[in-house]
Amino acid sequence: MNVTFLLNGETVKVEAEPTRTLLDWLREDRALCGTKEGCNEGDCGACTVMVTDADGAKALNACILFLPQLHGKAVRTVEGISGPDGALHPVQQAMVDHHGAQCGFCTPGFIASMATGHLQGRSDHDDVLAGNLCRCTGYAPIVRAAEATADAPVPPWMNDSVPQVEAQPYGPETLDELADWYAAHPDATLIAGATDVGLWVTKQLRDLPQVAFLNRCKELRGITQTDKTIHFGAAVTMTEVLAAIGKDHPSYAELIRRYGSEQVRNAATIGGNIANGSPIGDNPPALIAMGATLHLRHGDMTREMPLEDFFIDYGKQDRAPGELVTYVTLPKKAPALRCYKISKRFDQDISAVCGCFNVIVADGIVSSARIAFGGMAGTPHRAHQVEAALTGQPWTRGTITNAAARFGEDYTPMSDMRASAAYRSEIAQNLLHRYFADMTGQATSVLEVTP
Ligand SMILES: Cc1cc2nc3c(=O)[nH]c(=O)nc-3n(C[C@H](O)[C@H](O)[C@H](O)COP(=O)(O)OP(=O)(O)OC[C@H]3O[C@@H](n4cnc5c(N)ncnc54)[C@H](O)[C@@H]3O)c2cc1C
Ligand code: FES
Ligand code: FES
Repeated sequence: MNVTFLLNGETVKVEAEPTRTLLDWLREDRALCGTKEGCNEGDCGACTVMVTDADGAKALNACILFLPQLHGKAVRTVEGISGPDGALHPVQQAMVDHHGAQCGFCTPGFIASMATGHLQGRSDHDDVLAGNLCRCTGYAPIVRAAEATADAPVPPWMNDSVPQVEAQPYGPETLDELADWYAAHPDATLIAGATDVGLWVTKQLRDLPQVAFLNRCKELRGITQTDKTIHFGAAVTMTEVLAAIGKDHPSYAELIRRYGSEQVRNAATIGGNIANGSPIGDNPPALIAMGATLHLRHGDMTREMPLEDFFIDYGKQDRAPGELVTYVTLPKKAPALRCYKISKRFDQDISAVCGCFNVIVADGIVSSARIAFGGMAGTPHRAHQVEAALTGQPWTRGTITNAAARFGEDYTPMSDMRASAAYRSEIAQNLLHRYFADMTGQATSVLEVTP
């Protein structure tokens, strides 16, 4: 198969296995070894490159980026971030000036993230750089270097245009084509952002004999907003979700800001995060607490269901072979929604527990309650007994204490490397108390503590 993209300003046409990663190809076939391999699983950012498409530039991890995902796009590696005559990019000069590198292994990845942030005019450097790990310099000089370039103009060579390309064989361009193809090839693997599937290849060394990439299917990439709903195509990235929900769902947005890293959010899709059926995915608890609807398609047949019904058991979802997730629809407003992610690190960490609460109180009485947790069972699901203990009761600390005691009837969590069962049980109860505090005007966020 033939994949065409711009590499540091030069058009390349590549014949490659569909699951060959950009990182391997750069280092092994092009001898572009500036892009480093650290973890090879999306965690460290040493392999960061800048990828430009019609929507603009974004930072991505080359280690879990398959070559077909680049068709019709432009890639800039660290070798192409300095100018054609060797002139340093302003962020490179600033890293020198501010002593931003010691061993230097992480530096190309930082440079790619910083140059992309610089191009985008970003000043939220902590978020831009949260997916880049540095073990020896420390972040203060690096962030100072990023700050120092705020007023520097973007060098002309950084403004990539995207090449015109023909369709590529593994990327159906319409939903009809994709749905027909998948129904006829139910054993094939769909690849959306590849933040899960990438690891099947790099860590589990799995062969994927038949694949289809979703990123060229425009219908799956759309976002439609009405007065009442927000409707996401399954292939909308978490960065795009974050931008779309920021105003209406600030607490959900704060959860998504802590989803992986900039590079992971730029790749991972909302549909992939649901379809993979993970018990610790961050979207499902928030979406279930809001009462979101999931849409599926199998050939010509479409159906929809409350998202909570999709998750049947650990590793088992209500999705037939050859059926794809097409859309998710959520309410435009859910003012009582609060989402709490408990993880060992603030950024770039999977939830140990994710609790999402949406309790409606009218005249001091709980009129409805939707509470959903991830990390408490084999699937993300609702706390029906806790909800029942709240509904119809006065919205008081006493009601909360009584309801919190019911979590054991809803969930039997397990112990794993992220948290013990006892910790999970206790934190679930504490989060209900936190929600009550939050909704009754008490300060609960440690981020807002000021000296
Ligand atoms: C470093 C790192 C950090 C992460 N941090 C987080 C985090 O903080 N929170 C979190 O929730 N997750 C996190 N993840 C997990 C991952 O990002 C998500 O599960 C992601 O949303 C998967 O989406 P994707 O588009 O990358 O899916 P892919 O990897 O492309 O696909 C995942 C699965 O879903 C299937 N699939 C994809 N789209 C469809 C569709 N439309 N219909 C049917 N099947 C489909 C694929 O075939 C595959 O089985 C992290 C991953 C990495 C590598
Ligand atoms: S090598 Fe660590 S994120 Fe790619
Ligand atoms: S400079 Fe050594 S890891 Fe960052």
